[in-house]
Amino acid sequence: MTTFVLATANANKADEMRAVVRGLNIELLARPSTVPDVDETEDTLEGNALLKARALVEATGHPALADDTGLFVDALMGRPGVYSARYAGVGASDEDNVRKLLSELDNVLDTERRAHFRTVICAAYAGGDFFCVEGVLEGTIARKARGEKGFGYDSVFIPDLDPSRTLAEMTSEEKNAISHRARALRALADELAAR
Ligand code: IMP
Repeated sequence: MTTFVLATANANKADEMRAVVRGLNIELLARPSTVPDVDETEDTLEGNALLKARALVEATGHPALADDTGLFVDALMGRPGVYSARYAGVGASDEDNVRKLLSELDNVLDTERRAHFRTVICAAYAGGDFFCVEGVLEGTIARKARGEKGFGYDSVFIPDLDPSRTLAEMTSEEKNAISHRARALRALADELAAR
């Protein structure tokens, strides 16, 4: 049995990760509340995920898993990207970030609104060994927010796999079947199974 500590304090993400590694003889422990938040000071998803995973290894002595996600919009030269959580400023709400994104794309034609979500998950071990995997979801940015489910930028992201809906109009099962995070988790499960 391999035990990993999770860097995320988000219980939904932790449950999603547990569902994917079920049957792999892997135990995922919640992040101890005594470990302080890690500042995301790197300028890549890999850099920040590794920073968070290594901080947990250092604090607990256990192998650790950390994820980092960004929304990359072609017409904005990849922004908000690694800065997606604080696009409208430090402490910005999801609504603030979505409002800023739609206003920046106000004059951008429907055909020019390509974007993708990318999630990177890094596993880090005591002694310095690590590996990272990724998952990508391609789509376009809607003109107006639609749907009440999900979080973050879900209400304005229309996946190519189902162009009739935004992610916020899908059930969590439907979103989890195609999402960038689920794809990264499947890559993680494959890599762990191969080790
Ligand atoms: P984090 O790395 O998971 O903290 O996510 C960084 C930013 O991307 C935050 O603003 C999240 O709200 C947003 N985000 C992450 N995953 C998703 C998703 O699945 N749908 C929509 N927004 C997301």
